[in-house]
Amino acid sequence: MKLFLDTANVKQVAEVAAWGVLDGVTTNPSLVMKEGKDFKETVLEMCKHVPSVSAQVTATDFEGMRKQGEEYASWNKNVVVKVPMTTEGLKTLKHFKSKGIRTNTTLVFSPAQAILAAKAGATIISPFIGRLDDIGEDGMNLIAEIMEIWRNYNFETEVLVASTRHPRHIVDAARLGAHICTVPYDVFAKLPKHSLTDIGLKKFMDDWAKVQGK
Ligand code: E4P
Repeated sequence: MKLFLDTANVKQVAEVAAWGVLDGVTTNPSLVMKEGKDFKETVLEMCKHVPSVSAQVTATDFEGMRKQGEEYASWNKNVVVKVPMTTEGLKTLKHFKSKGIRTNTTLVFSPAQAILAAKAGATIISPFIGRLDDIGEDGMNLIAEIMEIWRNYNFETEVLVASTRHPRHIVDAARLGAHICTVPYDVFAKLPKHSLTDIGLKKFMDDWAKVQGK
């Protein structure tokens, strides 16, 4: 499973990329607003670290999304154009597929939306599981349904599990065979940790110090 960082913070991307486990980055307008940095510079910096950086269009009509997306794609070959799951978005996905521009369909909340985005030629679809959990639904069940559908057909579209909130989301997504998980920095930072690792390492170090002291 590929792991992406869900952030608009370049330092976080550089740090996790240095661990050797980072495959891409997803950004969105809210994350960009939080950082308050220039969008193009941010995306270009991130493209130095990973081969896939999702940059979201902010127009909502086909023509606006086409223009914006083509501009983003011209910045760097690592840019993936992020398009919302609407009927205008579907037209945009189809257009970019014919141009060989990679896309990520955002705000997917149902299996029907997933099927349409795949048929329109999305490179990636992003079902948001945390936001479904937030309204009392089972976000991971959406991933299970989508992966079941994907096994019945030959969709090339990769399923990216978005809106993850804790490490268990990443493990459950992997067990279901999802292709990608995008993870916020605070959750990513928890993934390498285990209290028994810390306790075990401390004991090894203490015992080694005793050996040295002899
Ligand atoms: C995905 O591409 C989105 O940026 C993200 O996962 C949204 O997550 P949120 O529900 O935590 O805002």
